[in-house]
Amino acid sequence: MKQELETLLQQATAEITIASSEEALQELRVKYLGKKGALTTLMKGIGAVPPEERPAFGQVVNSVKDQLEELIDATLGSIRAAAKAERLRRERLDVTLPGRCKPLGTKHPITLVIEDICEIFAGLGFQVAEGPEIELDYYNFEALNFPKDHPARDMQDTFFVDDNMLLRTHTSPVQIRTMLKHAPPVRIIAPGTVYRCDSDATHSPMFHQIEGLMVDKGITFGDLKGILTVFVNQYFGKNIGVRLRPSFFPFTEPSAEVDIACVICNGKGCRVCKNSGWLEILGAGMVDPEVYRHVHYDPETISGFAFGMGIERIAMLRYGISDMRLLFDNDLRFLSQF
Ligand code: DAH
Repeated sequence: MKQELETLLQQATAEITIASSEEALQELRVKYLGKKGALTTLMKGIGAVPPEERPAFGQVVNSVKDQLEELIDATLGSIRAAAKAERLRRERLDVTLPGRCKPLGTKHPITLVIEDICEIFAGLGFQVAEGPEIELDYYNFEALNFPKDHPARDMQDTFFVDDNMLLRTHTSPVQIRTMLKHAPPVRIIAPGTVYRCDSDATHSPMFHQIEGLMVDKGITFGDLKGILTVFVNQYFGKNIGVRLRPSFFPFTEPSAEVDIACVICNGKGCRVCKNSGWLEILGAGMVDPEVYRHVHYDPETISGFAFGMGIERIAMLRYGISDMRLLFDNDLRFLSQF
């Protein structure tokens, strides 16, 4: 019996020592120490041992059992430690590796123009105002003194939603909304999207405008020219010439179209300015008394000017963009240059 125990201890020790996984160890634990394990089976044979030797035999069995348990636990400990070390090695992070760069987006040129122009006018005391893109005929046309049969109302230019509602064709209705809400003085700049049923190489059905409005006591045409000159010189350059030509808009009287000296050829004449040396950039004028009637302002005590410009055109001039469609194609090769 003793010899058998000795052999069992040796064999078990050898197997446990080379066990390489937790599962293998678990199997060995069952094999030797389990209910039907080898040691237990030997223990059951204690009946065959002479009674006086039984205590000693029992002691040896217990000691073998303790040794094996200790060995299994120790081996388990080192298997776990090795696994942890291996995991740490595998998951090690090289903090000196350069990070992956996320490509940085850029602002759309239209956004840049709006931000830059709003900033210039903010410096002149103008506040940014907004209005809805789905607008009432009343604000888009009626209150701006467009006669009922004005060609701009024509189906061909205006996207109508129904008889009273349309997609605004310009940012001028923001003038009306602002004056209805605020008593004079007002000084606003209103950027936004506008829509016209028109689409070819130089027209997009959706484009952008910036509207300006300044109403106060004693505002003159000179103030209009002064403010616009300050704007042109800040935005396009210090010595860019500005000229006003007489024009017509239903909501201003007198009205003007404003040109700047061609920023491409410096006024010498080129393809962009059609050899005139001048580029038209906006429409403007003194607010028509008829408009004040709609917003309950008294044209006897106040006066003011308004102006409106197309942002796409300004962007093309400012950044030397030759085709307006580039602004709507969303081609990253183009957009990432800004
Ligand atoms: N609303 C005009 C248009 O879309 C532009 C314009 C002209 C706006 C003269 C104004 C203005 O405020 O005074 O063509």
